[in-house]
Amino acid sequence: MKALTIALAKNPFVLAPMAGITDHGFRSFMKKLGAGIVISELVSATGISYKSTRTLQLTRFDESQRPVGIQLFGEDPLTMAEAARFVEDLGADFVDLNFGCPVPKVVKKGAGSALLKDLPAMGQLLSEVVAAVKIPVTIKIRTGWEASCRNAEDVAALAANEGIAWVAIHGRTRAQAYGGQADWDYIARVKERARLPILGNGDILTPAQAVSRLRQSGVDGVMIGRGALKNPYLFREALALWRQVAPEKASENAPENAPENALKTGPASQDLVRDYPGLVEMLVDSIAPHCDERILQIQLKKFAAWFATGYPNAAQFRKSLYQSADTQDLVLLAREYFASVQELQPADTSAEAFLMGGHG
Ligand SMILES: Cc1cc2nc3c(=O)[nH]c(=O)nc-3n(C[C@H](O)[C@H](O)[C@H](O)COP(=O)(O)O)c2cc1C
Repeated sequence: MKALTIALAKNPFVLAPMAGITDHGFRSFMKKLGAGIVISELVSATGISYKSTRTLQLTRFDESQRPVGIQLFGEDPLTMAEAARFVEDLGADFVDLNFGCPVPKVVKKGAGSALLKDLPAMGQLLSEVVAAVKIPVTIKIRTGWEASCRNAEDVAALAANEGIAWVAIHGRTRAQAYGGQADWDYIARVKERARLPILGNGDILTPAQAVSRLRQSGVDGVMIGRGALKNPYLFREALALWRQVAPEKASENAPENAPENALKTGPASQDLVRDYPGLVEMLVDSIAPHCDERILQIQLKKFAAWFATGYPNAAQFRKSLYQSADTQDLVLLAREYFASVQELQPADTSAEAFLMGGHG
């Protein structure tokens, strides 16, 4: 538990779990680009108990990702406890439990955000999982099931009693899905009363927002999801900015204590130059060892298309990407495009809808 708190104090910017996105390759990529802590996408506890090949594949990670957590979902306390033990045996640094997923297929079974409506059931599940493992157990929730029953404060109290290491709060109710804005005032109120670390999450798109949310809400860390898909440099830039504006953190961030990748992302401004063409190779190097050619191409197209958001001729670039079926060609296309926009600032696309659905 202490190791996680120390990791957060050194780098409070955490990669949010995202299904189909925060896989082995993307977590390594984000870690190289300054994310402090990374978490897998949600993994079915039942799938683990059946030893489903596809499920087990989602739990893979490597040393470069530490500290790394594996997120589980499910409704049965014993199955969840068994899956948590499996995650511990793999050597993960912590296990995260999903209580935020709004997807009907998950909620109907009583898992994900459905547990926000049944705190006794959540308490029993927490107690079984915490008793089953020695590694820290964290949870990710929404502010509540719907506007009339926002109960993140009660969940935080329950979690503190059960020995949970942190509560990450996506600042929307389950009923809101991805509409409206994350309510950071509410997150700040929960933090004020909480007896355990709180992470805030929702709608962080710029380094300045990441740092101001952190400071204004008083949370112990912020989770960033979709923002890092538009700006892959978001973690690195947020960390550098935070170190500049939070001199009280300077001693904790002393070079001898900083993780190796954080050193590379230090505040020296020449280190903050964005190298978009070089990013393409870094992405391929991170993804390629963990998947076949077909998946590599899908991921490359997806990420390059997102990273182009706000830059000129992005639509034409995406069209060319999706017409290509050759990896070398894709790399070349992406390199050429990013070289052409290298010196430009992207347009502000914060008002445009972007990935308005997910499992938390
Ligand atoms: C495509 C997608 C998949 C997601 N999958 C998960 C998931 O597996 N587990 C989870 O707890 N949250 C999941 N989420 C929710 C995110 O972790 C995060 O709470 C949400 O996107 C709000 O943060 P953001 O505005 O920084 O993206 C997902 C979100 C998206 C967009």
